[in-house]
This record gives sequence, C-alpha cells and structure tokens, in this order.
Amino acid sequence: MKKHTMEDLVSLCKRRGFIFQSNEIYGGLQGLYDYGPLGVELKNNLKKSWWNSMIYERDDIEGIDSSILTNPLVLKYSGHEDTFSDPLQDCRDCNSRWRADHIEEGKCPNCGSENLTDPRPFNLMFKTSVGPVEDGSSFAYLRPETAQNIFTNFKNVMDSTPHALPFGIAQIGKAFRNEITPRNFIFRVREFEQMELEFFVRPGEDEKWHKEWTEMRLKWWQEQGLSSDNIELYHVPEDELAHYSKATVDIMYRYPHGLEELEGIANRTDFDLGSHTKGQKQLSIFSKVAENTQSNAKLAVQDLETKEWFLPFVIEPSAGVDRGFLAILNEAYEEEALEGGKTRIVLHLKPHLSPIKAAVIPLKRNDSNIVEKAVNLKNKLQRTISGKVLLENTGNIGKNYRKHDEIGTPASITVDFQSLDDDTFTVRDRDSMQQERVSLEEIRQFLEENYEI
Ligand code: GAP
Repeated sequence: MKKHTMEDLVSLCKRRGFIFQSNEIYGGLQGLYDYGPLGVELKNNLKKSWWNSMIYERDDIEGIDSSILTNPLVLKYSGHEDTFSDPLQDCRDCNSRWRADHIEEGKCPNCGSENLTDPRPFNLMFKTSVGPVEDGSSFAYLRPETAQNIFTNFKNVMDSTPHALPFGIAQIGKAFRNEITPRNFIFRVREFEQMELEFFVRPGEDEKWHKEWTEMRLKWWQEQGLSSDNIELYHVPEDELAHYSKATVDIMYRYPHGLEELEGIANRTDFDLGSHTKGQKQLSIFSKVAENTQSNAKLAVQDLETKEWFLPFVIEPSAGVDRGFLAILNEAYEEEALEGGKTRIVLHLKPHLSPIKAAVIPLKRNDSNIVEKAVNLKNKLQRTISGKVLLENTGNIGKNYRKHDEIGTPASITVDFQSLDDDTFTVRDRDSMQQERVSLEEIRQFLEENYEI
C-alpha cells in the first residue's frame, strides 16, 4: 500500500467537496476552512457519534449549548486573560512572526536569520466590541474553549436536573484562538470545534475517574476507526501542564505531519469552580446586583450526610472535532493497487461516519422506467435510514463506483433491467467490491446487517 501525504488528503477534500479554503475567492484568510457538502455530513456524523456516547448511552451526563461571546470577567477569573498565551518571536530581518517552540536551532523558519527578538507572551484570545459604541469600553471575548460556560452554568444544570455527583455536562461548539502560526490543514486553525465534557466528581475520586475517562476515550476513538498503531498516550510533564491542570493525558495521533495531540484529558481539580466562586465574591464587594445573586452563583455542593459544602473536582476530556475529522480521514484513506496495474482511492470509513450511507444508481440515466424505480427505492430507503441516501443519476456506472469509493459510501445499489422484472438490485460493497443481488423486501435488512445503517 502506498503511503499517502497530507497533500493527498487536501486534494481529495477539495475535489470531492469535503473541505475548502475559507474566503477563497478573496484570497482566503489564514487558519480558516469551510466544510463542503460531504464534509458537513462527515463532521455531523462524528459529532453525533460523540453526543450519542456521552448523552444518550449514559445516564449521568447532560448536554448544553452556550453562547460563544463571553463576558471578559469569566475569562479573567478562569485565568485565560493572564495565562492563555503562546511565546512569540519576531524575525528582525524579514518581519515574520513565529511561535517560539516552532523555531528550530534559533533560526527564522522563513529566511534563516538568527536576528530574532526575545520570546514574549502573546494572548491567543480574540476580542470583539459589544453594542453600538466602539470605544473599547464594552467588549467580549470569543470563547477560547467551550468549557468555561459549562462551569458558569454548573449550578443552573444541577438545580434543574436530578443529578448528584458524579455527573457531567457536555457541549459541542466553536472555539477561537488567534494561533500565531496556523498550519497543517485543519490541524491547527483559528476557528475550530471542540467536543468537551466536564465530569464533576468528589475530591479524592478524581484520579480514579481520570484514568477511567482516559480509557473510555481511547476506546471511543478506536470505535471511530483509528487504529491503535497510530495512537499513543502522552502523560504531560508537570512543567508543560496548563494553568488549571493537576494532570493531563493527551491522546496523540500519528497525522501525516507527525504524532500530535488529538484530545486532552485533564484533571482540572476544583480550579475553575473555585475561581468563579472567588470571582462572585469579589463582585459582590462592588455591586449590589451581584450581591443579590451571589448565593445562587456559589459553585459548591453540599454533602447531604455531613452537611458540609465542598467544590467538586473536574475531569475534562476535550477533543477537537477538526482534528478528529483529519485523523479519521487519514486512517480511512487508501490508494489501493488493483489487478492490471490500476489503482483506486478508497475511504474505508466506518459506515456510521460515511457522508453518504448508500448510493442508488440507475444503470441507464435516460431510461425513465429504471430511473423511476431508482427514485422509488431511494425514497423508500431514505425514510428509515438516518443519514443521506443519494440518488446518483450521473455519469456511467464505473465512474460512479469510483466516486463512491473515494467518498467512503459503504454500499452502491444499482437498478438495472432485471430490477424492472423481478424487483432485485445489485449491492456493491465498497471495501471488497463484491456484488450481491438483493430483493426489494430484503434490502433494508441487508443494509442494516452488513453496515449497521
Ligand atoms: N478545555 C480544554 C482545552 O481547550 P486544549 O488542549 O487547549 O484544551 C482541546 O484543546 C482540544 O481542542 C485539543 O486536543 C485539540 O483537539 C483542539 N484544538 C485546540 N487548539 C486547536 C486549534 N488551533 N485548531 C484545531 N483544534 C484545536
């Protein structure tokens, strides 16, 4: 099997409509990408799979969807205003700017000059003004992680649901970081999505839960199709830990550009709930309104036996949707050698992630009887399949098979002349390329049994 490169993935994404450079007709904007018709399907399927595993398959996690614009006080007390920065160095010769840890041997990666400034912290948060006056007095941050509004809603969720510890709050949504050097396609971008769980536990049970969540998340990524050969766990050393973390394990994936972080599982202790409780107390000194709301906003919980109040600890598995997408694409992509020296590109996606679940292909696109039968079959299947069934009434059959191999459609169903006589269809399997004739009555069950769709 030929080893592919990042360029192969980028090219497939553009050619087939998975991912485009954002704002491309105006020259693009660095670090931003748009998901096209197939990309949005695959991305939604990945998020759905995560949501199922967190919210529907468990009884101890609730979901939320909070705002992106964030009150600066939230990010002041979370520590992001002071510490959410990367070290920046300028090249005095070519004026380019670099993240200090991306500079090798003290040389500018652009011009090779050693005439660099000393590293200085560069805060990664984007700011925007709020309201009609743009004098800087009223601004908000675009959230740099989805986590903070989970903490600020902790009491709201606890008070409105029947949960006791341990329990979790999960969220999927956009996060924004003004990365100094976005690079490697959708791996490091300035606008991306996160799938984050904040799992609240009793102090003392945190280390056990940290281990457990690391194992569960590893297993989940394998269920999405990532092979264990391409995954490693990295126990982040103390001097590299984020300001809120007591211990972090990163799930590292072997991307085309190297082994890099896909998800981090952090033990955030009571850092965030503690900081926001402090923030509330601080506010109450200055503001009557805050004083009135203070008792609601304290984020401690009460032990019903001892009556003592305590701050829960938090275990946080935090995954990047875009990095997950790239890992899954990389894993699924194969340039397969066929007999006769030919090759085909095939995406061996797990069917639950495939952007198209099944393609229904009329053998002759201008035969109205065949097309009508194909339309009926497509409509019938679509009614019970969660995900897109595509009527593929374009081009010749070989070209259609090639396309659906490339975009990872698990099953291509051809409607031919025999179908008109006996209501049977050929189902071609993407991976084996084997074809099987299946009757109309059996086809739904056949797809479910073979592809779980
Ligand atoms: N709430 C914890 C947190 O945000 P993080 O390690 O900074 O932790 C979590 O980010 C995940 O978000 C990462 O593992 C990665 O998958 C994704 N991520 C972070 N920065 C990113 C970027 N610039 N582009 C794409 N994904 C990113």
